[in-house]
Amino acid sequence: MLEIINLNKTYGEGDTKVHALQDVSISIEKGEFVLIVGSSGSGKSTLLNMIGLLDSPSSGKIFIDGKDTTTLDDNQLSSFRNQKLGFIFQFSNLISDLTVYENVLLPRQIGSTNGSAEKDAKDLLIAVGMEDQIYKRANKISGGQAQRAAIARGMVNNPSIVLADEPTGNLDSVTANTIVQLMKSIAKKLGHTFIIVTHDRHQFGEVDRIITIKDGRAFEGEEPTMEAVA
Ligand SMILES: Nc1ncnc2c1ncn2[C@@H]1O[C@H](COP(=O)(O)OP(=O)(O)O)[C@@H](O)[C@H]1O
Ligand SMILES: [Mg+2]
Repeated sequence: MLEIINLNKTYGEGDTKVHALQDVSISIEKGEFVLIVGSSGSGKSTLLNMIGLLDSPSSGKIFIDGKDTTTLDDNQLSSFRNQKLGFIFQFSNLISDLTVYENVLLPRQIGSTNGSAEKDAKDLLIAVGMEDQIYKRANKISGGQAQRAAIARGMVNNPSIVLADEPTGNLDSVTANTIVQLMKSIAKKLGHTFIIVTHDRHQFGEVDRIITIKDGRAFEGEEPTMEAVA
């Protein structure tokens, strides 16, 4: 499903060069709910942007559903991204003049045109508990509702992998908790693969897998915290 092999990413040149990712190799199976954790600046967003094909690696390979994505040109990349990947960001980034429903449909109109799009958008809005808000304008709903809509939008193309970078980072803890439970239940129900960057691992409770990024390197599992030492 997702296979990352010896991935490296450096930013800048000479004295200002930053090795944001170093020799990262990870494979993730279909349906896994995975958290990526690590301190600020460790390389989490860089990794997610590479998996999301939003930026290209300095070296290494990323296979998605068996396809070597490093061989794709820009046009192929954007259609592959649209077909295979769904995105949820920290800020919902809904278009404020459009209705909730129109926002959720947007990725579908860019990609494949298919009669089932409208039904899929509505079904997802029901699944995220937004059935009463479907025809409201995006600037008339709360932050938590906007993030629910953003989840529906991220899933409307039936992506192989849903990527989320700090999806609850902009929400109060009660709303954040609701959104976390929603993502977990949707992932389970629909069998999607979720890869979520978070600084708040505890918010998520039990998950299939945790990957820790430290100084640009990836480790399986959670780093033990130091604070428990007497
Ligand atoms: N576009 C960029 N140009 C230069 N350096 C960057 C860029 N993006 C990230 N970095 C650097 O790469 C490292 C990893 O950043 P990032 O992936 O954003 O970390 P995280 O998401 O874990 O906080 C940091 O040192 C950051 O300053
Ligand atoms: Mg980040």
